[in-house]
Formats: sequence, structure tokens, C-alpha cells
Amino acid sequence: MTTNNEKLKWIYGMGATCFCAYFWTACSVNQAFQITNADTERLQNRGYGYSASKKELEEGYKLYVVKCGNCHNLVVPTKYTSYEWKFKYLERELQTAKVEDEREKKLISMFILAKAR
Ligand code: HEC
Repeated sequence: MTTNNEKLKWIYGMGATCFCAYFWTACSVNQAFQITNADTERLQNRGYGYSASKKELEEGYKLYVVKCGNCHNLVVPTKYTSYEWKFKYLERELQTAKVEDEREKKLISMFILAKAR
């Protein structure tokens, strides 16, 4: 027979596990969007003629969240290769999202291309 004490232990145990799982998930999701020097280098080395500072990539990320998450969930950049983004999705989706400002287009593109697979 289980005592109340054992039941309580089990409940606290589960609580702690969920709590940790929650933070672990939140952190790894955030990491996917953290801008680092590696991202600015990757963008430059990809050869699309783009070069951006960390600050510009952060601005691109903010625009991407605002402009690209309205109709569907945000599509994580790593879902596609930079090539697929560049030649398949970016132009089409920027148009769908009615991003017309050339600077905004560029910032969103640079963020996605820096973070793409
Ligand atoms: C006005 C609504 C709307 C906005 C805003 C929008 N999309 Fe989409 N997006 C769609 C629809 C609808 C589809 C499915 C179309 C299809 O597959 O033919 C889609 C599909 C996609 C796909 C391919 C399917 C997938 O899930 O992998 C990608 C990638 C994508 N969108 C990225 C973006 C990005 C990046 C932005 C911001 C620039 C954006 N979308 C903004 C409506 C939108």
C-alpha cells in the first residue's frame, strides 16, 4: 500500500520534472534565434552578397517575428537550406506578407539566410 507521503513525493517529483522540461524547451527555442558573430560570418560566407552586423540581424529577427507569424506559425529558418529560402520561399513570402520596404525586405532576408540550414 502506498502512503500519502509516497504519493506526495511522486507529485512533487513530477512537478519538478515538468518545470525543468519547460525551461529546457524555452531555452533551446531561444537559442535558435540568438544572434552571434557566427551568424554574421555565415551570412557573409554564403555568397549571396549580403553582409550584416549583429544589430541588423537582430532587427531582421524582430521584423520576421512581426511580419511572418500572422498567417502561420513562424517557419524556423533551419527548416530549409539558404538556397531553398533564397530561390523558393523568400521572394514569394515577402510578397504574400506585403513587405514592400526595401530595407525591411533586406533585413528579414539577411536574418533568415544567416540562420538557415
Ligand atoms: C498573408 C499571410 C502570410 C504571411 C504574412 C506570411 N505567409 Fe508564409 N505562407 C502563407 C501561406 C498561405 C502558405 C502556404 C502556401 C503554399 O504552400 O502554397 C505559406 C507558406 C510558407 C512557407 C512554406 C511552407 C512551410 O511551412 O515551410 C514558408 C517557408 C513561409 N510561408 C515563410 C514565410 C515568411 C518568411 C514570411 C514573412 C516574410 C511569411 N511566410 C509570411 C501565408 C503567409
